[in-house]
Amino acid sequence: MNESHFQDALADTKNLGEMTDADAVGTVGSPDCGDMVRLWVKYREQDGRKVIDKASFQSFGCQTAIAVASLATELIRGKTREEALQMSAEDLSKPLGPLPPMKIHCGQMVEGALRAALEAETAEPKTESPRAHPIGHTLADSLAAADKKAGKIKIVLNS
Ligand code: FES
Repeated sequence: MNESHFQDALADTKNLGEMTDADAVGTVGSPDCGDMVRLWVKYREQDGRKVIDKASFQSFGCQTAIAVASLATELIRGKTREEALQMSAEDLSKPLGPLPPMKIHCGQMVEGALRAALEAETAEPKTESPRAHPIGHTLADSLAAADKKAGKIKIVLNS
């Protein structure tokens, strides 16, 4: 991982926050560390194609997850759903350079949230699942619900 690119990405975090007019949302939690990321996507028509107009995210995750999510929300703009689905965690974090082995799951969590959002656009989830949540619920809502269900959940901010 290129440390200066990483610090730049963190210092200039883009598209952080809930998107109230999103077309789709996806949420993923990492079983490796208990962190979570939620990603919103909004589409627009361009030359007869439906492309991603903008994306935003919320994260209760480490700095790597935040940096990758910020980059991902920029990299997918202007892409079709199919093009965005082709992007791997490696593609989404490429400007940072290769992630160290213990941080690979951070990028994979962002890829998972993106996939969940892109897939939620065509198939509205019928039941609450950890991979997709109704638009409008915040990450804090999900954590509160999970907290009630599981008894407790550990939240680590900016670890
Ligand atoms: Fe868990 Fe990075 S997302 S350590």
